[in-house]
Amino acid sequence: MVAEHGGLPRPVRLDRVLAEAGLGTRRDARTLIKRGRVSVNGVTVRDPGRHIRPNIDQVAVDGRALETGAEDPVTLMLNKPRGVITATRDAAARTVLDLLPAAVARKVVPAGRLDKDTEGLLILTEDGQLCHRLISPRHAVEKEYWARLDGSVSPSLVEAFAAGVRLDDGYVTLPARLVIERVEQPGEARVVVTEGKYHQIKRMFAAFGLRVTALRRLRIGSLWLDPALAPGEYRPLTGDEIQLLLRNPAAPGVSGPDLGTITAPPSSGTTF
Ligand code: URA
Repeated sequence: MVAEHGGLPRPVRLDRVLAEAGLGTRRDARTLIKRGRVSVNGVTVRDPGRHIRPNIDQVAVDGRALETGAEDPVTLMLNKPRGVITATRDAAARTVLDLLPAAVARKVVPAGRLDKDTEGLLILTEDGQLCHRLISPRHAVEKEYWARLDGSVSPSLVEAFAAGVRLDDGYVTLPARLVIERVEQPGEARVVVTEGKYHQIKRMFAAFGLRVTALRRLRIGSLWLDPALAPGEYRPLTGDEIQLLLRNPAAPGVSGPDLGTITAPPSSGTTF
């Protein structure tokens, strides 16, 4: 049932979704909807012409979830907000899965981890192989971060990052690329790493006496965070975008948004 619409699942009329799920004819489906027996994302919908996104919106009839979807594994891009943990469940804290409809959250896992106070690009997928490729150091998929520091990043750090940084536990990181974003903003930098050690970016800067006060992931492979996604918003990836995730390093001609289109988080109120 699911057609591609620029690579995204094409929105489909609700009455058609019900009919194709075996709940009777389109007329039967319209009756069910008008009687208030159908909900979309937990809210009763009485308009049979309402369009839903297969595999994304959660449709239920009399409270029972309906399979709306395609066979392709679901892969989402989330703009992770600060204050949410990257875990599948937690007794106390809000997790990234809590930002998704339950039917989607049941299927996907985060491909990698961002700290509670880090925001930005997080991939969630039910494709185990893709997940493995994105996080395995063997595949060396680049991850690019924007960081704000509590001091100035000296140009000498560029070479130090390129050589690999010895962390507090003695581990020496793989070579990383450090770019001082703007000379007039020496407290901001971009960092590209190909591995994901615990608190890696914070610990790399800490090795030089700098504290990260804000951190955002901008890119994985050649795929940039969609600047149209506000923190907490997500969308499915197209097939082409999944390919970009695995294309590494960023190929010539693949460029990201300039910093002006990705607004920096406020400097206050963020502590690590
Ligand atoms: N490095 C960090 O220190 N934190 C993150 O969330 C990601 C990379």
